[in-house]
Amino acid sequence: MSNGLFNALGGAIQQTKDALSEIVMPVMPEVQQSQTNGSNFFGASTETQLIHSPVVQATQTVQHICNGLCNATCDGDCRGKYDIEDTDVIRIEGVHKSFGNFKLFDDFKMIIPDFKGQGQFISILGKSGCGKSCTLDLISGLLKPDQGTIKIYGKPLKPFEAIPKVFQQYSAFPYMTVLENVALPLKMKGTPENERNEKAMEMIKLVGLDGKEHNWASRSNLSGGQLQRVSIARSLMAQEDRVLLLLDEPFSALDFIMREQMQETLLNLYNTSKMDPTIILVTHQIDEAVLLSNRIYIMAPNPGRVVKTLDIELGPNRTTAMKKSLKYLEYVSKVEDLMQF
Ligand SMILES: Nc1ncnc2c1ncn2[C@@H]1O[C@H](COP(=O)(O)OP(=O)(O)OP(=O)(O)O)[C@@H](O)[C@H]1O
Ligand SMILES: [Mg+2]
Repeated sequence: MSNGLFNALGGAIQQTKDALSEIVMPVMPEVQQSQTNGSNFFGASTETQLIHSPVVQATQTVQHICNGLCNATCDGDCRGKYDIEDTDVIRIEGVHKSFGNFKLFDDFKMIIPDFKGQGQFISILGKSGCGKSCTLDLISGLLKPDQGTIKIYGKPLKPFEAIPKVFQQYSAFPYMTVLENVALPLKMKGTPENERNEKAMEMIKLVGLDGKEHNWASRSNLSGGQLQRVSIARSLMAQEDRVLLLLDEPFSALDFIMREQMQETLLNLYNTSKMDPTIILVTHQIDEAVLLSNRIYIMAPNPGRVVKTLDIELGPNRTTAMKKSLKYLEYVSKVEDLMQF
């Protein structure tokens, strides 16, 4: 979204802040009850103020927004409040991690529940250095905690097991074609060539790269956005049953137009995929997080922790055209406010 547009609508946003504060209300028992009885991830908004951990208590009062329906120790956990599977997609608990004398995580907790029958798009926002990338690394298995547990769909990763992660830097192999890159995880598993190429082509179509499958996956043959699509498709191919896509600022090197195209690609993936994926995106772009996410987790540093979660109720089937809607702009403004701490 351009600053000009945002400024032009600033007055309107200000006016609607009052309206927002009307839907942002303390938790009422009956609201909790109605949510327990079947309302889904996109249910009505409420807000509450909760204090999360002894560390947070000592420094500040933290505003926590998770439809106001979470436990005091929520960190994203809505168990008993929504229609949630017993097993979480991600459950990080009691994690301690230091680099030398620098204590990054001190009893870190983050829970990403599994909402029944639907995928989810999570964004993680937070100041530089608060531990967003390290959180993704914990999930992917690239970073081992000094202490604590990380469970993915209820199980710790096995030794040498890792969930692929899409980085800001291009990570496609330039000496392979797009098709070879995407089919690589299946090749490593010994899947016959015809079968792996067929599956890879499905994924290539899903990320909008059909027609490019025989191009070399290098910067001289593909744009930055196309290269990131190769990484996304390869990451999806590497997983079998339940899909977890970890994206660490994957579009930050792209220009505005390309970034919007990639946002459309992710929305398409999310809207049309039969995989019910859980997509976790680390980004510094508030507008991007609002457009794409069902839920935003906001982290703070010293030590790295989740301080706020916010459900984004813009409904399913989103498009980049929504960036002009008032409701979208209200959310952007709200997240900007929430990050002022
Ligand atoms: N291998 C490492 N050795 C030493 N310090 C590290 C290491 N990895 C991360 N850190 C430190 O941990 C902190 C969190 O790093 P992390 O990369 O997770 O931050 P981030 O929230 O992703 O920041 P950014 O938004 O700038 O990408 C930083 O202070 C970083 O310097
Ligand atoms: Mg980072």
